[in-house]
Amino acid sequence: MVKTILLLAATASSTLIPGPWSNIHDSPTDRANALLKNMTQAEKISMLHGPATGDCCSCTTSASCAYVGNINPIARLGIPPTNMNDGPQGFRDNVHPGTTTAWPSGLTMAATWDVAAMQEWGIGMGKEFYAKGANVQLGPGLCLARVPRNGRNFEYLSGEDPFLGHTLVQPVITGIQSQKVIANAKHYAFNNQETNRGSVSEEVDERTRFEMYYPPFAGAINAGVGSIMCSYNKINGIWSCENPVTLKHDLKNYSGFKGYVMSDWGATHSTSIAKGLDVEMPQAHFMNSENITAGLKSKSIQQSDIDDSVQRILYAMFSVGVMDEPLSAWDWKKQSTNSTTEASVASARKLSGLSTVLLKNENETLPLLKNSQLKIAVIGFGGANAVVHGGGSGSVVASYTVKPIDAITDRAGKFATVTYNNGTDMTAASALAQDSDVAIVFVGTLSHEGGDRASLSLDDGCDPNIDPHSKQCQGNNANQNAMIDTIAGINSNTIVVASVPGAILMPWSTNPNITAILTNFLGGQQAGNAIADVLFGDVNPSGKLPITMPNKENEMEMSTEQWPGLPDPTNPMYAMYSEQLLVGYRYYEAKQIPFTTGFPFGHGLSYTTFKYTNLKIKKGFPLYQVSFDLENTGKVAGSEVTQLYLGFPAIVNEPPIQLKGFTKVTLDQGGRKTVTIELTEREMSIWDVVDHRFKAASGVFTVSVGASSRDLRLKGTITM
Ligand code: BGC
Repeated sequence: MVKTILLLAATASSTLIPGPWSNIHDSPTDRANALLKNMTQAEKISMLHGPATGDCCSCTTSASCAYVGNINPIARLGIPPTNMNDGPQGFRDNVHPGTTTAWPSGLTMAATWDVAAMQEWGIGMGKEFYAKGANVQLGPGLCLARVPRNGRNFEYLSGEDPFLGHTLVQPVITGIQSQKVIANAKHYAFNNQETNRGSVSEEVDERTRFEMYYPPFAGAINAGVGSIMCSYNKINGIWSCENPVTLKHDLKNYSGFKGYVMSDWGATHSTSIAKGLDVEMPQAHFMNSENITAGLKSKSIQQSDIDDSVQRILYAMFSVGVMDEPLSAWDWKKQSTNSTTEASVASARKLSGLSTVLLKNENETLPLLKNSQLKIAVIGFGGANAVVHGGGSGSVVASYTVKPIDAITDRAGKFATVTYNNGTDMTAASALAQDSDVAIVFVGTLSHEGGDRASLSLDDGCDPNIDPHSKQCQGNNANQNAMIDTIAGINSNTIVVASVPGAILMPWSTNPNITAILTNFLGGQQAGNAIADVLFGDVNPSGKLPITMPNKENEMEMSTEQWPGLPDPTNPMYAMYSEQLLVGYRYYEAKQIPFTTGFPFGHGLSYTTFKYTNLKIKKGFPLYQVSFDLENTGKVAGSEVTQLYLGFPAIVNEPPIQLKGFTKVTLDQGGRKTVTIELTEREMSIWDVVDHRFKAASGVFTVSVGASSRDLRLKGTITM
């Protein structure tokens, strides 16, 4: 009797028919293997592709095409359908617009440098996918911002640093997957430009692959990510989704990835199961029954290839819990559910606040409202035209968007008068600025997948061919720098808020009349409330730049061969990663480029100040412990992201510093804490191209700790 009850308790409530795979206490590997043994060949092959016939994506007529991607269920065994949906910053539902939360984008979240915030983001998005019946989230995006003008940088949570991406992705994966939704790390790999993404070959050497571009994916694997999306581009001459080196060797063998690889939409070019692809999306042009059967016959495909791919899919479904949910959980009709909730909207607001970066704050201009009866002018993209999201598959149709002007007016209450002008009529906007104590100028640019940005200028953000209805194209998009200059010429207390998809140029940043500058990147539907929270000091900013804000266009002097590539830069066949590790701040440090109008990686101010003292380096477990004291020396409580950079023993072309640790510390006014950052052997290793593995470097390392890559307050050394 007791035995029976125990067995029932351990058996899943799913609609999987009972069998040796049903005991939820068995490992996902054992359960997947057991189920695999009971599948017919036809059932196995049916899991290796999207729908073979009919519509493919986002239809409203049938279960087999309801989501952005679908793998049909197997009714005989009760295996549920795989319902995949975009995207990396919330559920994209163009069919039922306004039924999901538009969260801050991946890059925006990277500006939090905050693992708890990343987890909250993952859980929040995962809940909405589950509510909509989707069991795969096509995100997070992990590519590195190698190219400042890459059109998709806004989707990627790595910013320009592999350690940042590696650390931040882990809580996102556990967050999403805690909701029984399989996360999908994308785009593996080197989809670092959108110019000719469909066929450009990214030419990248082994060390650069492992040290710069794989670590965020390795982080996702550490966290148990269930699926990875191979990218559109070629890698060293071979399509990413049929590249045995990057898929079979680097990802599956070396990195130990146990989940499955799906192709980006239309990125499959052959029946490449033997090369490491597991699932073709969104249809079945190559990985279909005919081709696979023919491949088995000709011996270009082994039965073990098929079994391995199916096992990986089943493993992901078991390990994340998809298999053990009742079938009703994955009913495609749930797609019409309004999944956004007050809690998710409140979280989106909190996260946008946490990701807002205060770049400049002269004379403690911010927070506002130190004196009452302030006259505030809000100008530019601060109304219904607020820029909160990028375009393409990473866009989300928000349930509603909070206008900054409304949020600021609400918060100002009776203490201030707030007036708005959208900046298209500069005479009126100037008059308003003239008559106000403070002018807050909202500016923004957009970007989207499928193309790189025309420039890093704010004035180039609207592409009417691609975004004809975008808010950006409806406003004063082409003259934003002039708008800022004009307003700052009139009002000596001008604050700029930049809502941007990545790096921008700020030629006006040193203008003394521009007293404060903030960026909230692409903050999602609650960015309006969140910026009001920051402007008025309800939230003390703690975000730090996950990318460098350059002083000028192409400051890294990338040759055309490096980006967008040659022989024809408009339609390049290859792009050379000859800069190797010198991406972003690593280049700026190597060349000692001073920041004039731009801002360094890791920079971000607070309404309080922090003092760093007492650096100690202790050998021990894991390898070294670096500790220091942090004190809040300002007037209010606040949080500081403390950053540790290592300089490796001199090797040719080695970046002078590399981020190898960070931690966010919250301190009351006057509070003090000893902070410890641990260094493992991996952080002190370089990729050895002879032995093909990470090896600890020997020699003298410099250890620098501080508030940004250019504000390093404490220095020490380690001799290994
Ligand atoms: C994008 C992917 C996306 C897929 C499905 C592709 O164009 O590159 O990121 O998940 O479409 O919409």
